[in-house]
Amino acid sequence: MIKKLLISLLVIIVVVIGSMATYVQMSWDKKYDWPAPSLAVSTDSAVIAKGKYLVNGPSHCVSCHVGSIPELVEVDQGKVLPLKGGLGLPLGPLGVIRSRNLTPDKETGIGRYTDAELFRMMRHGIRPDGVASMPVLMPFFNMADEDLVAIVSYLRSLEPVKNNVPENDWTFMGKVVRTFSTTFRPIEKPTPPPSAPAMAPTIERGEYLAKYLANCVGCHTQRDMMTYEAIGPEFAGGMEFEPWPELHNYLKADPELWLRTPNITFDPGGSMAKFKTPQDFIDRFRMGRTISFSPMDWGSFSRMSDEDLTAIYMFLQSLPPVKKDIGEIAFKPKKD
Ligand code: HEC
Ligand code: HEC
Repeated sequence: MIKKLLISLLVIIVVVIGSMATYVQMSWDKKYDWPAPSLAVSTDSAVIAKGKYLVNGPSHCVSCHVGSIPELVEVDQGKVLPLKGGLGLPLGPLGVIRSRNLTPDKETGIGRYTDAELFRMMRHGIRPDGVASMPVLMPFFNMADEDLVAIVSYLRSLEPVKNNVPENDWTFMGKVVRTFSTTFRPIEKPTPPPSAPAMAPTIERGEYLAKYLANCVGCHTQRDMMTYEAIGPEFAGGMEFEPWPELHNYLKADPELWLRTPNITFDPGGSMAKFKTPQDFIDRFRMGRTISFSPMDWGSFSRMSDEDLTAIYMFLQSLPPVKKDIGEIAFKPKKD
């Protein structure tokens, strides 16, 4: 009797696991046929120049869309390299996601895609082939129309480079997470402002940059590491970054050193306390990185205009200071 019961139980377990696995295999690369925002690219030189500024500066597309770690380091230091893609970003047990070729090559780059497919990627996090991307990597959904147009117009103006980037590698666990976690859902209802605040030292421009163009809020907020939902006050820091073995190795940095983001509200205990004036803040950004392996896009941000850096300073200063002691910036987790 007991034996029969155990056998039926085992059969049920095998069937449940089997159907789950089948469900995951069928759903992890589900396609979305959502419409794209109706925007049109431009060949106007002022529009293209704005796109160039955003891609190489505040919106730091160049940090990821290069081919390798040595290239990532060179671009951070100011070298201009083709955005040919291929850099593999390790996602731990989930697999590896690869940045893609953003040059207009017709076989391997964005020359394959319509403008609509590119705008939809930026606004909704849906890849040109319809598969949901990983929106936290490119959180630019609330860029105003004119900035999206500027960026795509600039990409269309680049020299085509042939570089066939292989597909991402998802482990089975990666496919399970892709199937069930909101981190891999497209953004259904983005809320971009009707127009981009003009580049000028205003709180409004600073907020737009810090939240929607430069993603300061993405890293300088404590987050749940599975869902990336905020679990602490915005801009008060505390998000932790594991070492990226290949990068640490290339830079000969301590492979066990983690980093966490400082509090960038104007609390006396936070990082902003040392910048007494907007000029101090600008000077810090012009200097670039001090920690070689920091995930912060220091190179790109060092290319932001004085107006934009001042605007960010003013916006951060306008926030209520948050008391949050985040501890050492560089640390080694305690072994248990
Ligand atoms: C943190 C790294 C990162 C940054 C920053 C970044 N991207 Fe990406 N991008 C990726 C990755 C990774 C993919 C592949 C996504 C996938 O396969 O789901 C991608 C895919 C794309 C695609 C789809 C191309 C294709 O062939 O499928 C476009 C278009 C794109 N990015 C444009 C941009 C632009 C424009 C910017 C700057 C405004 C930018 N990206 C910034 C990492 C990044
Ligand atoms: C990809 C994650 C990431 C993004 C995006 C990011 N930061 Fe950081 N930031 C960090 C980390 C990690 C540190 C600590 C290590 C370091 O100093 O580089 C840091 C450090 C800082 C510091 C302290 C620097 C010092 O010398 O003490 C300031 C100020 C700062 N960030 C402001 C910003 C602003 C403003 C933005 C948006 C324009 C931004 N960060 C975007 C991750 C990020």
